[in-house]
Amino acid sequence: HRHLLALQGLEPPYIAELLDLAESYALLNRSGKTQRDVLRGQTLINLFFEDSTRTRTSFELAGKRLGADVINMSVSTSSVNKGETLLDTASTLNAMKTDLLVIRHAQSGAPALLSQKVDAAVINAGDGTHEHPTQALLDALTIRRRKGRLENLTVAICGDVLHSRVARSNIHLLLAMNCRVRIVGPPTLIPAEAEALGVEVFHDMRAGLKDADVVMMLRLQKERMQGGLVPSAREFFRFYGLDAAKLRHAKPDAIVMHPGPMNRGVEIDSAIADDPTRSVIGEQVEMGVAVRMAVLDILSQNQRRNAR
Ligand code: CP
Repeated sequence: HRHLLALQGLEPPYIAELLDLAESYALLNRSGKTQRDVLRGQTLINLFFEDSTRTRTSFELAGKRLGADVINMSVSTSSVNKGETLLDTASTLNAMKTDLLVIRHAQSGAPALLSQKVDAAVINAGDGTHEHPTQALLDALTIRRRKGRLENLTVAICGDVLHSRVARSNIHLLLAMNCRVRIVGPPTLIPAEAEALGVEVFHDMRAGLKDADVVMMLRLQKERMQGGLVPSAREFFRFYGLDAAKLRHAKPDAIVMHPGPMNRGVEIDSAIADDPTRSVIGEQVEMGVAVRMAVLDILSQNQRRNAR
């Protein structure tokens, strides 16, 4: 594969190869050893049209750990503000001989469009409500480390599924890796096509969490809600916010995940988010660096292979 634009349709062996390489980078990162020559001489540009803390920083760290020259393009001070189009921005980056281009954009499909216009390998760092592939890969790596496998686990993805690119990427990956996937939320926040994706839909947290191995909470994305939040934040927390009482319906050793940034007291109670016996939110962030190192490494290898 030349780019990483989506997980939908990716072959399970390719996903497993990415996770295995990410696991080896996770071990190297923990031992403090670095791999400075894998991307030596390569240029990576981070092009973020939407805000980010975790994804942008971890791509920067991943690129630097592998020896790439990393540029963070600040869109808010770029010529995009003078009306330059996405495709003209792409031509400019192409002329600078960029090897790896990481893009986050509010429009679903923007990274795919860009990938047709640039020579660089394009990595989707989140596009609209479509996909966030590296987030789902780091979630899968975290689950695999904690549970020892991905197959035959029951994963409940809860909350604002409608606006969540994280949920879509996770659904595609987890189904491809033979997990049972449930989505849980109010009817206003569940996409109409949900059941066609092959997941089970629940509107009651207790039923949706029953005997789950993994409880994955999502951020309420108020910035994508045209008509405001229905139900209100207070009602949402009461019925769908993860607290100790609701978590008791999952398996006793169920892990709790959240991609971040969190709305504490809205989709998740702080006591659960900060509980080291249940929450793996910190490990998700740690695995984000390892997964992004693996993605950069494999796409760069593919580029060299194609150039031969
Ligand atoms: N999970 C995630 O994508 O976080 P950021 O928006 O901080 O990158």
